[in-house]
Amino acid sequence: MVTNVKVRAPSSTANLGPGFDVFGLALDAFYDEITLSKTNKSITTNRPWHGVRILTTDDVPKDPQQNTAGLVVKAMKQKFKIKSGIEIRIKKGVPAGFGMGSSAASAAAAALAFNKLFNLKLDSNTLIKCAGIGEKASAGTIHYDNVAASLLGGFVVVKTKPFEVVRLEPPKNLVLCLAVPQLKVPKKKTKISRAVIPKTVKLSDLTVNLSNAANIVSGFLLKDSDLIGRSIQDVIVEPARKHLIPGFSKVKNNALNAGALGVTISGAGPSVIAFCKKSQNLKKIGKSMEKGFSSVKVGCDIIICKPSAGPKIRA
Ligand code: HSE
Repeated sequence: MVTNVKVRAPSSTANLGPGFDVFGLALDAFYDEITLSKTNKSITTNRPWHGVRILTTDDVPKDPQQNTAGLVVKAMKQKFKIKSGIEIRIKKGVPAGFGMGSSAASAAAAALAFNKLFNLKLDSNTLIKCAGIGEKASAGTIHYDNVAASLLGGFVVVKTKPFEVVRLEPPKNLVLCLAVPQLKVPKKKTKISRAVIPKTVKLSDLTVNLSNAANIVSGFLLKDSDLIGRSIQDVIVEPARKHLIPGFSKVKNNALNAGALGVTISGAGPSVIAFCKKSQNLKKIGKSMEKGFSSVKVGCDIIICKPSAGPKIRA
């Protein structure tokens, strides 16, 4: 009988420009590790959370109701009528609040671990829906782009009505250059950066975004990193959010001038992501982004990474 499951789930970038809440790409930059254990001990703290306890030394909420992984475990425990007590051990690797799917990595790992621990044999769409519940803890609303990428690895396209997620294998030569600014981010950053997005859009803007989004999918299908990069163009969400990132335009233009194929905000920011090819001068692109941030006196870390193949489960 399995009593202990450990899952390592990757960071991710969402939106890829025009694919707001629809596109996600798993990144092998960082990983969160969640270990779920069955316990017979009755855990009486955190009412009404009988049976769920969080153990971590990291800076994340210890109350399961406020914690991404805790919310997922609670929801799955109720949905699948699991009586056993559960301990959740959390090791955060994905920096929280920087647009790299930190909450999603924990949520995805928790959903996968739960599925394995109780031998539920859930399909991927159900797992993604369960993991999406955890996003509520940080974003205020459920969105599936990051959790789908973290759960499935590779590039994902999320459709919500009716719910379905498609995974595509990224081109082998696709490399990402992430510029992570050394900024103090507010606790509910995703909620804040979602509040600045327009509620309605012009049809002509929608057409531009739709055509770019369609060509990003074509690029993944055709394994054409240039086409993906050229299509990373967003005339709706990026213009509404860029003022939240000091030096954004400079960072983006510098990276494009240094040869990046496409540049945009990573998820809800404030990290900026450049889509590149292995054969390019990635150091130069990274340096140019660093210079962009330093022009507004903001330090930044540059991470050059590849798409991630997905999570690893150990029972
Ligand atoms: N699609 C989401 C957003 C991702 O842009 O708000 C948040 O990580």
